[in-house]
Amino acid sequence: MIQRHLNIDYVEYRSVEEMEPMDRELVAAAMEARKGSYSPYSKFSVGAALRLEDGTIVKGANQENAAYPSGICAERTAMFAAGANYPGKAFDTIAVIAGMHGETCKDPASPCGACRQVMAEYQALGRRPLKVILVGADRIYKFGEVDDILPFIFDSLEA
Ligand code: THU
Repeated sequence: MIQRHLNIDYVEYRSVEEMEPMDRELVAAAMEARKGSYSPYSKFSVGAALRLEDGTIVKGANQENAAYPSGICAERTAMFAAGANYPGKAFDTIAVIAGMHGETCKDPASPCGACRQVMAEYQALGRRPLKVILVGADRIYKFGEVDDILPFIFDSLEA
C-alpha cells in the first residue's frame, strides 16, 4: 500500500489590480455577463466569460426555469455558446463570478461538477490547458488547467 498525496498549485490574487491585463479584462467581462443572469428562483446570479484561442470573449450567465432542472449554469451557457458559434476554436481561459442581490460572494465562485466535466471535455478537444479564474470579492484564484479543479479527470478522448 502506498499513501499518495495530491498537490494543486494555483495563484491567489487579493484584487484584480494584481492580475495581468488580459485576465483583468476577462474578469470585467464575467462581471458584465452576470447582468444577463435570469435567476428569479435562487436569486444567485452567476456570470462567466470565456476567452477563445483567437481572443474572442464569449459570455454566459445562469438561466433558470420554473421547472428547476431545465435551468443551466453560467459556465455551461458560455461554453456551449462558444462551442456552437465558434466550432473548432480552443478555449483559453474561463472566468466565473457569482453573488446575490448585486453583491459578489466573498469567496471565489466554485463551478459545479457538471460544469467542470464540460470544461474537461472542451479542454481535451482544444488540446491545450483551459485556465480557470474563480472570482470572489476578497480573493481571486487562478488555476492553470481544469485538472486542478477536477482531479482524476474523466477524459473520453484520451481512452
Ligand atoms: N450556478 C451557476 O451558474 N454556476 C455555478 O458554478 C454554480 C451554480 C447557478 C445555477 C443556479 O441558477 C444558481 O446558480 C443556484 O444554484
